[in-house]
Amino acid sequence: MKKNSLLAMGDLSREDIIHILDDALLFHDTYKDWQLPLPRVLAANLFFEASTRTHFSFESAEYQLGCKVSDIYGETSSVTKGESLYDTLKTLEMHGFDLFVIRHSKDRFYEELENIHVPIINAGDGKTDHPTQCLLDLLTMRQQFGHLEGLNVVICGDIEHSRVASSNKTALELFGANVVFAGPKEWEREGYKSVDFDEAIPWADVVMMLRIQRERGASLKDMSDGEYLEKFGMNKRRYEMMKDNAIIMHPAPFNRGVEIDGDLVEAEKSRIFWQMYNGVLVRKAVIKRALGFPPFGDYHEN
Ligand code: CP
Repeated sequence: MKKNSLLAMGDLSREDIIHILDDALLFHDTYKDWQLPLPRVLAANLFFEASTRTHFSFESAEYQLGCKVSDIYGETSSVTKGESLYDTLKTLEMHGFDLFVIRHSKDRFYEELENIHVPIINAGDGKTDHPTQCLLDLLTMRQQFGHLEGLNVVICGDIEHSRVASSNKTALELFGANVVFAGPKEWEREGYKSVDFDEAIPWADVVMMLRIQRERGASLKDMSDGEYLEKFGMNKRRYEMMKDNAIIMHPAPFNRGVEIDGDLVEAEKSRIFWQMYNGVLVRKAVIKRALGFPPFGDYHEN
C-alpha cells in the first residue's frame, strides 16, 4: 500500500491529525488558490455506494487543486461482470491514475489492496470508518472551541451501523475528549458508553445526530417518525436544554422531522452546513498529503 494513503482514523497519530486540520484551515485563507505543483494528477473517484457530500466535495477539492478527475461508479463498471475491486484498481493503476478515492459497502475493503501502488483515500467503508468525515467534524469542533481536549460529545441515533460514530470515537478519545452515545437500545454497540439522551444534552458541548441507516438494515418497526423525533431526535425542547455555546452537528444526509426537527437544521447552534464547507478544505489537505506533499507548516522560505 502506498505511504500516505488514508484508510482508517486509527492509523493517524495526533500529529498527523493536527497537520491535516492546520492545512485545511490554511486552505480557507492563506492558500485558498494553492494548486498542486505537478504537471498533471489524474484522480479516480470510485463510488460503490450512494454519496452527495463526500463524492462532490472530493471532486470540488480535486478540481480546485488542478487535478483531472474521473468518476467510476459500481453499476457502470466491469464490477457488474464479476471483476474484483483489486483487479479494477490494478487496471486503473495501469491506465496511469495517480490517486484513488473509494467508497465501498465492505468493511475494510482496503485489506485486499496491499499490492496497489497508487495512494488510496477511504471515502467510507461499510460500518467501519469514514476518516474524511471525521476530520471535517474535528475541524468544525476545533473552530468552535479552539481545542478538542476535554470536550463533551454525545452522539445520538443509529450507532450500530454508523462509521461516523466509530471514526469519531477513535479520534476524539485520542485527543482526550469525553464521548458518549445515545439512541434506541437496539442500536447500541459494544464498547460504546450508552447514556440517557436527555441527561447528556445539558452536559454536552457537541450534540452529534445520526441518520437511521435503513440501507444497512436498521429499522424500528413500530415507531413513527414523530415518535422517533420525540424520543431520540433533536427537537425544540432539547435545543433549549443545550448549553449556550454548544453546537449541533450531523454528517448528513439528514431526514428532517426524524432525527432532527426541520426548523433546527439551520438554527443558530447548528453547524451542519458549515461541516459541508469544511469538507472541501479537509479533502484538499488529505489529497495534498496523499500525493506526498508535507504540511504547509513545514515549507520554508528560501
Ligand atoms: N456525510 C456523508 O458521507 O454524506 P454522503 O453520503 O452524501 O457522502
